Amino acid sequence: MALLKIYHYPAPILRKETEKITDFNEELTKLSEDMAETMWDAPGIGLAAPQVGKSLKLIVVDRTPKNEDGTEGKREYMVLVNPEIISYEGEQDDTEGCLSLPELTDVVTRHKKIVVRYQDLSGQETELTAEDRFAVVLQHEIDHLNGTLFLDHLSHLKRMLYKKKVKKWLKA
Ligand code: CO
Repeated sequence: MALLKIYHYPAPILRKETEKITDFNEELTKLSEDMAETMWDAPGIGLAAPQVGKSLKLIVVDRTPKNEDGTEGKREYMVLVNPEIISYEGEQDDTEGCLSLPELTDVVTRHKKIVVRYQDLSGQETELTAEDRFAVVLQHEIDHLNGTLFLDHLSHLKRMLYKKKVKKWLKA
């Protein structure tokens, strides 16, 4: 496994519509393993392919269970290829951050419960239902596949302030 470079806003790759994956090969498995390692190293709880410079419909999400004593269990993650939200209900507000948006966290309103259709690494199509925090992570990562960042869900003022901050960093 290898650590991948994480692209930061305003890298153009983050704004591109991603391509549907049709080849379920070794290369795809390797990329998803590297993405999981990169996610945990950052550390983050989800990562989308455009964030590591690959314009593909691929996301990894952390699924590490909690032990009874509250500590983390053995690390686990899930790979979703070509994921799509096919139904949703309810609303929730939760705080989000993004490995591509350094030093930004804010509250975003998302669906409370979603059904996602996706393929696994062998190309097998399947569906899952997610609620609460897990549903937030999936919506955030699936947004990346459409060139959308959680920044886009914030108010005009907050977006402007962040853009100003980034401009300053780029100059420095
Ligand atoms: Co993100």
